[in-house]
Amino acid sequence: MSCKNTYITTPIYYVNDVAHIGHAYTTVIADMLARYSRLVGRNTFFLTGTDEHGQKIEQSAKQRGRAPQEYADEISATFKNLWDDFEISYDKFIRTTDNEHKIGVQKAFEVMMENGDVYKDVYSGNYCVSCETFFTDKQLVNDEFCPDCGKTTSVIEEESYFFRLSKYEDKLLQYYKENEDFILPRSKRNEIIRFVEGGLNDLSVTRTSFEWGVKLPKSANDPKHVMYVWLDALMNYVTALGYGQDEAKMEFWPAKVHLIGKDILRFHAVYWPAFLMSLGLELPKHVAAHGWWTRDGQKMSKSKGNVVDPKEVADAYGIENFRYFMMREVPFGQDGDFSQKALIDRINSDLGNDLGNLLNRIIGMSGKYFEGNIKGADIEKYYASELDEVNDKLGSIEPLLYEMQIHRFLEELWKPLTVANQAIDRYQPWTLMKEGREEEAMALVGLIANILAKVTVLLHPFMPKTTDKIAEALHFSIDTPAYEKLIKNKGVLEDFVITKIPPLFPRIEEELLKDDKGAEEQKQQEQEEDLNLITIDQFFETKLKVGTVVEAKEVEGSSKLLLLQVDIGEAAPRQVVAGIKKYYSAADLLDSQVCMVANLKPAKLMGLKSEGMLLAAKDKKGLSLIRPEHPRKAGSDIG
Ligand code: ME8
Ligand code: MG
Repeated sequence: MSCKNTYITTPIYYVNDVAHIGHAYTTVIADMLARYSRLVGRNTFFLTGTDEHGQKIEQSAKQRGRAPQEYADEISATFKNLWDDFEISYDKFIRTTDNEHKIGVQKAFEVMMENGDVYKDVYSGNYCVSCETFFTDKQLVNDEFCPDCGKTTSVIEEESYFFRLSKYEDKLLQYYKENEDFILPRSKRNEIIRFVEGGLNDLSVTRTSFEWGVKLPKSANDPKHVMYVWLDALMNYVTALGYGQDEAKMEFWPAKVHLIGKDILRFHAVYWPAFLMSLGLELPKHVAAHGWWTRDGQKMSKSKGNVVDPKEVADAYGIENFRYFMMREVPFGQDGDFSQKALIDRINSDLGNDLGNLLNRIIGMSGKYFEGNIKGADIEKYYASELDEVNDKLGSIEPLLYEMQIHRFLEELWKPLTVANQAIDRYQPWTLMKEGREEEAMALVGLIANILAKVTVLLHPFMPKTTDKIAEALHFSIDTPAYEKLIKNKGVLEDFVITKIPPLFPRIEEELLKDDKGAEEQKQQEQEEDLNLITIDQFFETKLKVGTVVEAKEVEGSSKLLLLQVDIGEAAPRQVVAGIKKYYSAADLLDSQVCMVANLKPAKLMGLKSEGMLLAAKDKKGLSLIRPEHPRKAGSDIG
């Protein structure tokens, strides 16, 4: 962090769902880094916001019978309100539906076109709407499922503009090589290098099959296309600074760090740098990816009902206690587990016993012996070694933050508290007072107050209000001059007026979220869900019939699909588009019998109507159709 300007970002969150602990975690870390940067005197810009375009949002809105803009307005506001509750000190909250953003994205597209980095072709392949990601056949799991989220992908074939990602392969590899800490933690770097070395396909960057997105620039003269949501979204990091318009704030570029979760590392460490190279902009200094939160050891999901609602936790345990917990509990980059027990332990032990008690002790001692007035405490004379120990420790921990070793930073920050407690026990101010060594006792109280003040300054970005209260009790203020005096220049405060304040971390005796299911109950529910029990009525909602294939042919241009006409005893055969060409030829199927789901809503595959689904069993080795053991009349019921 040598440059004076520091730009820190969070991902912009999709507005298809409300925030949970994962979103809060990323945002709180980014906030801490931004506050730290301001504290040490850097000119800081901190950006967060919401990602509002794309097929997923369009579908979510539709499912709720809402217009996408209105729906996005509502969810975006819930994120903004939550961040205000969480004391998130963002300088700008960007929305991708902001007009300035859209203009900036269009401008970028124009630049890419002018550079010859964009060309028009046809995209044909698989798409996961949930991840808003294209996948090759090879990447899919069992030919169908998204390798990232496990949901079913859809086959799309549409005209599209492509970004020449392949052109940037070598440049990207070079960049990773020359900037070893571009990707943090470093352990994630190899993963990305292997991905790029594996070869990059050009990236489809526009879509035509839905409308909810940024239109292409007028100069492209192609109104049926909208931008691919990831191109739109990534651009937020520069449009927020006025890219393509009023570029005064572009002085903050490049970003010091993009803070993200590991799920979106590839977008930030591969696609984004390539886009930036194409635009002739500098690359961000770091992309820092954290791990995944679980709850009581279980994956969080809406269907399990175990998603941690950050507001609920904050209301029960205190926002800043929760902020501290998230940053202290889990090594950055690793997955972490939320449990009330772990949270309570951190509050009672680190905050209550270590920090809170030291504050109480100093309030008690200074009140009893000096009526709270500490004046001209000569710490150097009596306690130079303790003071040096603390100064050396605090003077050397800052790099931990820049390496994103946040939990280690906090761990080290706590060590001076131990030095302080040990000094009290060893030198015993009560004995000093009894023996009439008042100056020594005053120096000791001064030492403890200084240790507390120093720790409080560095803890401020993590727990802003709590540390302000401590500073108020000691009568000093936490600001850049205080940082410079107490931390950077290893100075001391000689005078304090120490006043009593209510306890900051009252002991928590029991879990405060009552509706929290215990781990056991959770497990049981999960097992039941895994069995996926349904009633007989639910089963009979599916109409299964025996059918005879009366016509079979290949679907032109498709490596997977066959087009079948299946007689199920109705007036006309049903048309079925089946993805089984790899396992059966059209000739194999003609005149054979199949089992079919007969009451599915018709679907369209590659423009062809499909009016049923064949039953088949699939494993790693292949697929085989389920058929009656002996021929049955076409249309026979199954069940
Ligand atoms: O991906 N544990 O938005 P998103 C930890 N719009 N962090 C988690 C988490 C969990 N269980 N779940 C989510 C998008 N996160 C895009 C980003 S940026 C140009 C566009 C956090 O709403 C984590 O930071 O799906 C992750 O990267 C982010 O939420 C994804 O949020
Ligand atoms: Mg997501």
